[in-house]
Amino acid sequence: MKRVVIVGTQWGDEGKGKITDYLSRYADVVVRYQGGNNAGHTVVIDGERRALHLLPSGVFNPAIENVMANGMVIDPIALGQELDRKMVNLHISDRAHVVLPFHREEDTRSESDKGTHKIGTTKKGIGPAYADKAARIGIRMGTFVDPVRFAKAIRELVRIKNEAIFQDRRKRHDADEIIRAYKPYQELLRPYVKDTSIFLNDRIEAGKNILFEGAQGVLLCLDHGTYPYVTSSSPTAASVPLSTGIAPWLIDGALGVTKAYTTRVGEGPMPSEMDREQAHVIRERGHEYGTTTGRKRRIGWLDLVVIRHAKRTSGLSALAITLLDVLSGLSVIKVVVSYRLQGKAIDFIPEHADDLSQVEPVYIELKGWDEDLSKIRTFEELPDAAKTYLDTISQVVGLPIHIFSVGPERHQTIEILKTFEGRKP
Ligand code: GDP
Ligand code: IMO
Ligand code: MG
Repeated sequence: MKRVVIVGTQWGDEGKGKITDYLSRYADVVVRYQGGNNAGHTVVIDGERRALHLLPSGVFNPAIENVMANGMVIDPIALGQELDRKMVNLHISDRAHVVLPFHREEDTRSESDKGTHKIGTTKKGIGPAYADKAARIGIRMGTFVDPVRFAKAIRELVRIKNEAIFQDRRKRHDADEIIRAYKPYQELLRPYVKDTSIFLNDRIEAGKNILFEGAQGVLLCLDHGTYPYVTSSSPTAASVPLSTGIAPWLIDGALGVTKAYTTRVGEGPMPSEMDREQAHVIRERGHEYGTTTGRKRRIGWLDLVVIRHAKRTSGLSALAITLLDVLSGLSVIKVVVSYRLQGKAIDFIPEHADDLSQVEPVYIELKGWDEDLSKIRTFEELPDAAKTYLDTISQVVGLPIHIFSVGPERHQTIEILKTFEGRKP
């Protein structure tokens, strides 16, 4: 494969950043295709831990050209904080939408209005920014970096927002204040903004290898996730053509990044969630606290109904299994293979969140292992029980495993099968 999508197959935080960084050694271009700074992608290189929220995870590889595509929503202040000025290999789509201060406020207000029905968003303004895009009142990066156009667009948008807020008797926004505050970010970002669809199609024509890095995971997809407990974009591989401006048939395949167990941040159903004590053990061992919000991640057993759902909706070609090392020391490891809903066996994700919260997971139990896996460098070195665990996942899901990982470092990522052809590391 030459053009590969990195898809999170669960509820996010599967290790997409780490796998993208690892595979970028075979690539020429890395493209973040959706989401905004709700994402938190951790890359650890030689003991140094770095969290990315907006920048593609190819940025630590100097040979890579990095693209932030039109499907993203970009908070210019957050990007300004993340951007290393030395990094000239960045291309930002002029069609990506801008996250503005009122989007963050609307996100917070909508969560508190929902009360017990809240989604548990990251409060970064992601939903409101995508809502303005769909309502055709959003501001895009091309406009943002043009002072004359931005001043006109923000005055109009602030007028619309203030009318809506005024009925609410809440604080009004001031367009001039926003124009002043964002001026340095306009100047900082202007050199990077362009038509990235043209850029990408040129690279494809030149035969370059491209990685498309998703944020979040398939179960957080606006269409195929556990609606309404989802994000406001689509992390599936199907989102890539629309979100980047390339033809669907130019994508060769997708690698589904899958945590060896399940985590979820925020509200919504999660059938394989563990009891508190068991979850605590895994959470501490896997450092399962959100990269973006620091919230405790909820923990569950690996759910293969979820992974098959991701396989179907993203057309996955293979899996990368991460955080296998975290499961060491358990005598028994449980895996969900199907559900029962109102007494009936089902092997799919029901449409309604209430039904998913009521399913009874059907588990198989596999033998655990005690050995520390962090120094393992080949599949053959794994304890038999860990080999059986990986083989079972591969068989039940019906996909080959290309990669497994036993720690956060690059060298703790083990490639069993090549994802990119014809390129030596
Ligand atoms: P992403 O959002 O999918 O990029 O994932 P995050 O970076 O939010 O969360 C994954 C976490 O697991 C990060 O802290 C990584 O450093 C860490 N990690 C990734 N792979 C492994 C692994 O194989 N073992 C362990 N112990 N940690 C890992
Ligand atoms: P990465 O890319 C885990 C979750 C939030 C909330 C829901 C909606 O690091 O895997 P939003 O702020 O997007 O409107 O929140 O989605 N969420 C994530 N959970 N990892 C992420 O990104 C997430 N991005 C959003 O917790 O439940
Ligand atoms: Mg994350």
